[in-house]
Amino acid sequence: MWLDCPQIASTTVPGQFVMVLCRNQGGDVPLLRRPLSIHRVDGDRMALLYAVVGQGTRWLSHRKPGDQVDILGPLGNNFTIDADSKRLLLVAGGIGIAPTVALADFALDRGYIVTLLIGSRSALHMYPEDQLDRAVSTGLNVVVVTEDGSKGRKGMVTGALSDLAAGADQIYACGPLPMYRAISGDIDILDGKPAQVCLEQMMGCGWGVCYGCTIETKNGLQKVCQDGPIFDIKDVMWNSVVDPVVGRL
Ligand code: FES
Repeated sequence: MWLDCPQIASTTVPGQFVMVLCRNQGGDVPLLRRPLSIHRVDGDRMALLYAVVGQGTRWLSHRKPGDQVDILGPLGNNFTIDADSKRLLLVAGGIGIAPTVALADFALDRGYIVTLLIGSRSALHMYPEDQLDRAVSTGLNVVVVTEDGSKGRKGMVTGALSDLAAGADQIYACGPLPMYRAISGDIDILDGKPAQVCLEQMMGCGWGVCYGCTIETKNGLQKVCQDGPIFDIKDVMWNSVVDPVVGRL
């Protein structure tokens, strides 16, 4: 969904998110705003990429051109690129492709060598590849993995990640919790490379007030909305992270 949103589009950096109020004016359900990653920016416009998984995103999917949406943001921290990194490997599992494309656009514009590894259940669930045409024309290397082999290489994204990690200076991942657990449980997959992950978590406020998104890290308790959503994969105590799919409205 593309939104005319100059205030956010002009200030956001890759990895940030917005809190979207997904209900009609005067309504009270769903009560909480939905956190959605900023997917792309183009001039005054910003794109949000989401899957319709519940009441809030279903409401959003019924918006028409000209409608107004109440959005809070940009929120959270951002992906960072080390001064000596040149080759970046971006790993996207499922809808986790949302913030990785923002990072790919940003890094390609600045001359980095970028590989985007996309994993999905099947070709049917794949992010539309034509949406990457402009990025590919500016040098993006795309590798596709599907669990059923209906597109690209067959297997799990973690298998392809371990093959590609050696060629990268830095790794960035966004995907479901099982993907993070698989990577953090076998850190050799990363070939010793530094890796940042983008966490998805149920959120109450989105700006550090309610403590509803707190997780344990090696640096103590941290709030995903304010200290994250980007964390070093080695810092997160993965047992403290709740899969947001469970209990989603
Ligand atoms: Fe309220 Fe993070 S969502 S503190």
